[in-house]
Amino acid sequence: MRVIEGLEEAAGLCDRWRAAGLGVGLVPTMGALHEGHASLLRRARAECDRVAASIFVNPTQFGPGEDLAAYPRTRDADVALCEGAGVDLAFFARAEEVYPEGFQTWVTVEHIARPLCGASRPVHFRGVATVVTQLLAIVRPHRAYFGAKDYQQSRVVARLARDLHLGVEIRVCDAVREPDGLAMSSRNRHLSLPERAVAPRIYRALVAARDLVLTGEARVGRVLERLHEVLEPGPELRIDYAEVRDAEDLRELPGGRIARGAGVLIAVAAFVGNTRLIDNVVIPPDPRA
Ligand code: PAF
Repeated sequence: MRVIEGLEEAAGLCDRWRAAGLGVGLVPTMGALHEGHASLLRRARAECDRVAASIFVNPTQFGPGEDLAAYPRTRDADVALCEGAGVDLAFFARAEEVYPEGFQTWVTVEHIARPLCGASRPVHFRGVATVVTQLLAIVRPHRAYFGAKDYQQSRVVARLARDLHLGVEIRVCDAVREPDGLAMSSRNRHLSLPERAVAPRIYRALVAARDLVLTGEARVGRVLERLHEVLEPGPELRIDYAEVRDAEDLRELPGGRIARGAGVLIAVAAFVGNTRLIDNVVIPPDPRA
C-alpha cells in the first residue's frame, strides 16, 4: 500500500492507474476508521482493480461550535486498517491544500440537502459536496463508496455526481452495527459508558417505527409517536430531529400519509450527552403495490 501526503502525488498515481486501464474505486473518509469504513473498503476491493482511501477531516463541513477540534484523529490505526482491508493508496490532505488562499468555489446541492441534517447543520452539506467534488476530481474514480448510515449525504453525493456529469458510480453500502444495533460511527468513541448504554435506543426506535409501517400504519404522526415512545427523550437523549420522509427525494410526505408501496426514510439525529448521533432505516419502494 502507498501512503501519500498531498493531493498532487495522489492524483498522479490515480492517473497512471486509469491510463493502464485499471478500474479505480475511492472511499472518502475523515479517518478515525472503524468496521463501517472497513466494509466500504472491502466492497471497493472486491469491485475495483485499485482502491484509494482519502483521509481528511474536512473543516468546512463543521459549523461554528461543532466538534471539529474534538473529531478523533487516529492516523496510525487508520493506515493499519487500510492496509488490512487491501487498500492500494491511502492519501492524506492538508487543509491549506484543499482550501488554498483565495479559494472561492463551493458546490451547493439544493432541495435534498435542506431538511434533516441540512436544517440542523446549515453549512454541513455545502462542505461535504465541495470536498467530495474535489476528491472525485483528484482521483477520478470509476466508483465511489459511501455508507448508508449517512443516508442524506449519500443522496446529496449521488445528486451532485449526476448533476455535474462526473461519470462516477456512487455505491451506497449498508450501515454496520454493533451487536446491540448501534450504528458504527467515529463519534461513538466519545460516549461514556452510561451514554453508550443509552445510544442503542436510537436504532431500537427506528426498528419499532419501521415495523409499524410494515404492519400497514400509514399515518406519519402515529409512526412518529412510536419513534418517540421508544426513544424516550430526556436529559440523557435529546432529539435533534425525528422524521419520516420520501426515501428518494427526502420530501415531506403529502398529507402526512405514507402511500402504499412508497419508499420511506425514517431518520433520527439525537444528542447522547454532547455527542450527536444519526441513524436511519429505509423501507424500499414496493413496485407491486
Ligand atoms: O462521511 C464522511 O466521512 C465525510 O462526510 C466525507 C464524505 C469523507 C466528506 O468529508
